[in-house]
Amino acid sequence: MKERFDLLIRNATIIDGSGAARFDGDIGVRGDRIAKIGRLDDAKADVEVDASRKIAAPGFIDAHTHDDRLMLSAGEMAPKVSQGVTTVVAGNCGISLAPMPGGMNGTVPSPLDLLDNEGKWFRFPTFGAYVEELGAHPAAANCALLVGHMTLRVATMDSLDRAATAAEIARMRELVREALVAGAIGFSTGLYYELSNAAPAEEVVEIARPLTEFNGIYCTHMRDEAEHVLASLDESFRVGRELAVPVVISHHKVVGTRSHGRSKETLPRIAEAMRNQSVCLDCYPYMASSTMLSYARILICSRVIVSSSRSFPQFAGMDLDEVVRKMGLPVEEAIAKLQPASAIYFSMDEADVQRILSFEHTMVGSDGLPHDIAPHPRLWGCFPRVLGHYSRDLKLFPLETAVRKMTGLPARTFGLKDRGVLKEGAHADITVFDPLTVAATATWEKPIQSARGIDATIVNGAIVWRDGKPTGARPGRVLKRT
Ligand code: ZN
Ligand code: CU
Repeated sequence: MKERFDLLIRNATIIDGSGAARFDGDIGVRGDRIAKIGRLDDAKADVEVDASRKIAAPGFIDAHTHDDRLMLSAGEMAPKVSQGVTTVVAGNCGISLAPMPGGMNGTVPSPLDLLDNEGKWFRFPTFGAYVEELGAHPAAANCALLVGHMTLRVATMDSLDRAATAAEIARMRELVREALVAGAIGFSTGLYYELSNAAPAEEVVEIARPLTEFNGIYCTHMRDEAEHVLASLDESFRVGRELAVPVVISHHKVVGTRSHGRSKETLPRIAEAMRNQSVCLDCYPYMASSTMLSYARILICSRVIVSSSRSFPQFAGMDLDEVVRKMGLPVEEAIAKLQPASAIYFSMDEADVQRILSFEHTMVGSDGLPHDIAPHPRLWGCFPRVLGHYSRDLKLFPLETAVRKMTGLPARTFGLKDRGVLKEGAHADITVFDPLTVAATATWEKPIQSARGIDATIVNGAIVWRDGKPTGARPGRVLKRT
């Protein structure tokens, strides 16, 4: 009798996510699992995908996202599944949608407003309530969730220009515990931002104590990614050591012309720390960053693009220089008038970007901002750009290495069991792409464009993206850390 599968990917070249060399084969899926890998010529299936001359890889894991709300407000998750992403790690940079026990009245302080500038989505009194909503209204992709320090500070403290008191720390620690019980995989900080900057490392350690007991992970947008980047790395490692938990350095980069080239110092420092503790890092493949618009930040950049402005939405996508000219105001005043606003900052060195991306322990994380009007192109282009531009065209590393950075490595780092790998018995998260044409099409000028060369994206055995369109399937789950 002919073997039957629910889904069969035929004639693929398989890159399994471990970094091992590619091989030819078919992949048979039953339910939400990979049932068989090998020659399945005689098998039959309800749905077939012809992958001749294509690569079948594990679905990509976006190690760094701000998709907390996108999963609920645009659950087809087109910016992500169009790139082959099947799991997003949300709640980064200290910013999570939950918990917000008192709700959010009035304006949402920046940068929390990157999730929702009206405040109506900050409506989950507990982390558990948010997880429940994701379960009741699943998105197209899976997620793994972090609870954010900045969100907790906003929820708990009356003024944020100081360290938390013992009572506030105890309250926030309780909220971290509740989040971990509800299924969060860890805790994030964004110590760079004003709302968190007054928090010393001791505050972070004391709030994050429950991570130790729950085997959680600590992810940090560091206090400083410019001149004091080494001190910030040391601070991050220290938090990890005191809690005895793994640390992820978020969107690692060195910003500002004066710091160009300093990845030559930061990467050895990270490698050295890795000898004594668990450390990993993610990065996005672009030499411009993106976050809230601030005067201090533009001073170290060669070019700035406004990516959203609540008061002047018509300026989104324009160079700040041009906006300032149009407004006829001094730069500092113009920036004040544009608020709340976000921007794209050209502040990095291409050699640093390539060095960091090539580093053995670097994962790929988009850091995409899905609610910006003119978002940084990393939102729609991050993964295909690594595969097409950096691996195929510039030959920075083999395709197997590129795939590992977006699959096997993040799955291991975040503790996502039986994901990020193609093997029998694993969850059927699979991406089929064309190695010759895969490319990002999103640009600074036209940032909202789906990638080229992504044939099919499969999440838990269901096709969520095919032939350039979402299929409407919503098989995404909230993943636990194991
Ligand atoms: Zn960040
Ligand atoms: Cu971020």
